[in-house]
Amino acid sequence: MTDHILVERQGAIQIIRMNRPDKKNALTRAMYGKMSAALAEGDTDPAVRVHVFLGVPGAFSSGNDLADFMVVATGGDGGTEVWDFLIALAGVEKPIVSGVDGIAVGIGTTINLHCDLTFATPRTVFRTPFVDLGLVPEAGSSLLAPRILGQQGAFALLGLGEGFSAERAKAAGLIYEVVEEGGLEASVLAAAGQIAAKPPEALKIARDLMRGSRDDLVARIEIESEHFRERLKSDEARAALTAFMTRKKG
Ligand code: COA
Repeated sequence: MTDHILVERQGAIQIIRMNRPDKKNALTRAMYGKMSAALAEGDTDPAVRVHVFLGVPGAFSSGNDLADFMVVATGGDGGTEVWDFLIALAGVEKPIVSGVDGIAVGIGTTINLHCDLTFATPRTVFRTPFVDLGLVPEAGSSLLAPRILGQQGAFALLGLGEGFSAERAKAAGLIYEVVEEGGLEASVLAAAGQIAAKPPEALKIARDLMRGSRDDLVARIEIESEHFRERLKSDEARAALTAFMTRKKG
């Protein structure tokens, strides 16, 4: 079976690559599980100083696998992998850099709210159609997005489900830099290398100070998760998920 999550080290940089191109990097429970394990391993290993998230050309991630959501919507067990990952992500102790090219939907957008630096290409669009799917924001985005984008920018992203181009995302403070496709991974790795070369203890304290207490964030992720799980069983969500699963591609 193809490995949908590839974990690699380049010196002090640990790279987590989402690698399911045929589904535009839709994330399955198994993929979340592997990413949580990689984050935990990288965080505890002193040889690792920085985490990197990458996708494949044209797709960072199309979000949670909607077939997995459909399982819950139809009364099945959704497991805890997604929620475990979100809590793990919020608690990561080392800096995170991401490189986003193309599709960045749902968690493909909200993961970046936890990153310290995000690079994106001009063809990238960030989009969180939670409400259109009958769902609610996740990954602490209901707390983090208003802080970054202001109330109205957050509403445009999370309420209206508007797409944010890379340029708009940069202007709004959602990402750090826009770089051409061909230079994306080099830019990400250069930034990660720069981070890895900093005195790690000072950097950790500086980062912790900038982030503040994680308690509010974890509490918000838990509240969001409760709503999200309930919403998955709602008529609104079932209708939206069924529409996607049965759509005809032309
Ligand atoms: N879950 C499951 N499968 C997904 C998926 C998802 N989130 N996103 C894409 N796929 C699948 C498609 O069903 C398709 O599978 P198929 O080839 O077996 O039919 C394949 O990935 C390619 O997707 P496609 O829709 O053909 O690519 P596209 O470039 O035209 O559109 C998206 C890409 C991401 C815009 C579109 O697939 C989409 O809207 N996906 C749903 C995104 C979403 O709502 N995510 C959840 C957010 S909470």
